[in-house]
Amino acid sequence: PLAVVVLISGSGSNLQAMIDAQHRGAPFRIAAVISNRADAFGLERARRHAIPAEVLSHSGYPDRESYDADLRQLIDGYAPGLVILAGFMRILTPEFVAHYQGRMLNIHPSLLPKFRGLHTHQRALDAGESEHGASVHFVTAELDGGPLVTQAKVSVLPGDTAETLAARVLAHEHIIYPMAADWFAQGRLQLGADGVPYLDGTRLESPYL
Ligand code: GAR
Repeated sequence: PLAVVVLISGSGSNLQAMIDAQHRGAPFRIAAVISNRADAFGLERARRHAIPAEVLSHSGYPDRESYDADLRQLIDGYAPGLVILAGFMRILTPEFVAHYQGRMLNIHPSLLPKFRGLHTHQRALDAGESEHGASVHFVTAELDGGPLVTQAKVSVLPGDTAETLAARVLAHEHIIYPMAADWFAQGRLQLGADGVPYLDGTRLESPYL
């Protein structure tokens, strides 16, 4: 199985979906979970499954470069073939991103390129969107701007709040993110030299839906 390192900052429900997929026989092995916050509940999820759980707090670091250099060293100690960002709420330096080019995935709670950044669910409601969702993408230096692998769409329903919409989107994240990690671990998904993802040799000009 492919060694993966999962980076988190919070609840880690997407991490849990990866753990569940591993237990169902997915072709990857979570070698470690790393959080920038000591109170992230996802660390507890990792410990429950005897997965090494590391904290690298960003407090005390003078700049992003020095934090990211230490983070890279910590990650590479586990020699992962894939790095999975799962609610890791930090902006990454271009050097860090370049080091993991083609082997780092992120999930973002919107139908990118719509609603990069924070508060995506409220912003989708405020914009009067009829559809919303989540996107899995390879990470590039552009924040939430990397090439899209797959998306899940949900309808915005009358009476939705940011909370109800977030919950509906999150349930779909738990399906598409392990699916994309599984593709990558099987060697079915790559980032092409042209900067576009390929799935089973097919160029994904638009995300797999
Ligand atoms: C998820 O909704 C994920 O898409 C989002 O944070 C949540 C983490 O939940 N990520 C981002 O907003 C990245 N910019 P989780 O900790 O329960 O997996």
